Amino acid sequence: MSDIWNRLKDHRKSQGAQRIEALFEADPSRASTFSTSAEGLVFDWSKTLIDARARDLLLELATPVPARREAMFSGERINETEDRAVLHTALRNLGGSVMVDGQDVMPEVRRTHERMRGFANAVRDGSFAGQGGRITDVINIGIGGSDLGPAMAVRALAPWHDGPRVHFVSNVDGADIADTLKGLDPATTLVIVASKTFTTIETMTNARTALDWMSKSVAQPAAQFAALSSAVARTAEWGIDESRVFGFEDWVGGRYSVWGPIGLSLMIAIGPKQFDRFLAGGAAMDQHFRQAPLAENLPVLLALVGIWHHQICGYGTRAVLPYDNRLARLPAYLQQLEMESNGKRVSMDGSDLTLPSGPVVWGEPGTNGQHAFYQLIHQGTAVVPCEFIIAAQGHEPELAHHHLLLIANCLAQSEALMRGRSLDEALEIMRAKGLTGAELERQARHRVFPGNRPSTTLLIPELSPYTLGQIVALYEHRVFVEGVILGINSFDQWGVELGKELALKVAPLLEGKPSPGHDPSTEHLAALIRAARG
Ligand code: F6P
Repeated sequence: MSDIWNRLKDHRKSQGAQRIEALFEADPSRASTFSTSAEGLVFDWSKTLIDARARDLLLELATPVPARREAMFSGERINETEDRAVLHTALRNLGGSVMVDGQDVMPEVRRTHERMRGFANAVRDGSFAGQGGRITDVINIGIGGSDLGPAMAVRALAPWHDGPRVHFVSNVDGADIADTLKGLDPATTLVIVASKTFTTIETMTNARTALDWMSKSVAQPAAQFAALSSAVARTAEWGIDESRVFGFEDWVGGRYSVWGPIGLSLMIAIGPKQFDRFLAGGAAMDQHFRQAPLAENLPVLLALVGIWHHQICGYGTRAVLPYDNRLARLPAYLQQLEMESNGKRVSMDGSDLTLPSGPVVWGEPGTNGQHAFYQLIHQGTAVVPCEFIIAAQGHEPELAHHHLLLIANCLAQSEALMRGRSLDEALEIMRAKGLTGAELERQARHRVFPGNRPSTTLLIPELSPYTLGQIVALYEHRVFVEGVILGINSFDQWGVELGKELALKVAPLLEGKPSPGHDPSTEHLAALIRAARG
């Protein structure tokens, strides 16, 4: 394996100052050869420096993927540091059977799904009501994977949202829940406490505040609470009736959990039928991932392009740029998915990684980002590989001219990143404005774009529950493939533990209680804060 990495690095070196545009000149069919269509999606990776040799070497890296992929789908305990199977795929493939420890887990998955449908329908049609009447507002209280998935999807699928209003509270900052509760009627609000472990301090603190808020004006506050968790026993302490408790197994990772009970707020928003379309999109991507040859496999290709840019070219970050305002939360969602999954420092066997792990993932929707950070992407000294996402069709036929402009901007950005503007071109522009001599040169140099900046474009027919399901599953599997190739366990998250533990020890320090073992800077800051708070 290390031999392939070396050959890839050597190949990259041998490319020297190779221009992406020159690859198009040398291969007139590049636009289609380096563009892969499947399941109605098109992934164009031609505007990168990956040539035929790089592609072939990258594909060799993916050799271990099929065996590991089948181990995942068949319920093996591939999350070795937590000794768990990884079966979020079972939540969207509701037929058939999946064995874990000799037991078919699917009957229970289907039962829970049916219960979710029943409850979501009851909330939507009013047969489940609050103590002041029909539910008008739903608050999902959760954080990380128990927030980002449904929050991203509810926003993305706004045109299908025909249920009650849905709000998301995640931050332990009281501002989050205070701002959300303002203007809501406790008697017509449903609170969903979403927490896989049901111990997360932010979620439990917010849930307690919501319960107190509700108990001030509602006789039976817990009757307007529902719970989503894999620690069902803990939910009982809250007095939430088990008919409104939706459990899932430990083989569903938090950041992979939107497909099951954690998606309840989405199901209430768009209805079970559309939620099933979301699942169907995810299931179709699973099928593609399992069956398509590696060279035509979308998750594999996304992963290989990512590895080329980060581990081979050494670009430190990756921008996700959806040209779709409703996908505004997708970059944040992908940040957790990718960075919590592959931001590791040791490989599965505990030895130090010899390659960089996953990159920093960030982004914002276009065209807004164009007027904020694209300056750096075009002219900064760091190269930022960009992943554009665009739908051929918008949702507002009467605003088709907006959508055309949106697409034009998206395509223009990837073209500009690749082509850039040479000094000669800049000189010509400035000469036409009447500049001469040293000032001409000086001004022109500011207007040069180096170009040769790589990007990919994911083209979808339109944003819908189905295509959103495809996109989310595509990225999930991409993260998995990257993890397999890097030898990482993508399904644990030990890196979030230390800060959580210390927060519990810092809290007494802020209250002036004894809490030994802190560093001088932390003690100093705590003392200043204590003094400021009086
Ligand atoms: O940030 C760590 C983490 O464990 C995430 O993996 C998870 O999505 C989030 O906290 C929330 O956890 P829970 O659903 O158990 O409240």
